[in-house]
Amino acid sequence: MDKARLIDKLNEAIALELCGVLQYNQYAQVLLGQDRKIWKSVFTDSSDESLGHARLFAERVVALGGHPTCEPTAVKQTTDVKEMLRNAVDHEKRAVAVYKEALDAAEGNVAYCNILEDQIDEETRDYEEFLLYLGEVDKASGAGGASASKAG
Ligand SMILES: [Fe+2]
Repeated sequence: MDKARLIDKLNEAIALELCGVLQYNQYAQVLLGQDRKIWKSVFTDSSDESLGHARLFAERVVALGGHPTCEPTAVKQTTDVKEMLRNAVDHEKRAVAVYKEALDAAEGNVAYCNILEDQIDEETRDYEEFLLYLGEVDKASGAGGASASKAG
């Protein structure tokens, strides 16, 4: 296990999760009309889930002897629901990629590998669900999850 790299990668993930807290919450608040009825709970749940992930990995960073970040990555603002969903796909894809990098840094530590494999599974399902909301599927990744090389 490369502890310093793992702390760095987990902090990257925490910054993304904190962005997710704010971005998904903002989307839930600004929606109007029928879109609000359909999507408000989806984005509220995603915001809550992101906070849970940020807390989980902040605890792990402290346990590793590091200092968890409290700075989110940049929020992408929009009032267009299709753009919200596209941003969500990009966000979840990036999360899968960062957790895969963290998994690579954790190699040899069974406990951290298990936590990160579960996390990659969860983020991949979120990514795929948002893609399905857009009427799309990720033909490149199949059951293995979002491709790290395509993260952006
Ligand atoms: Fe997450």
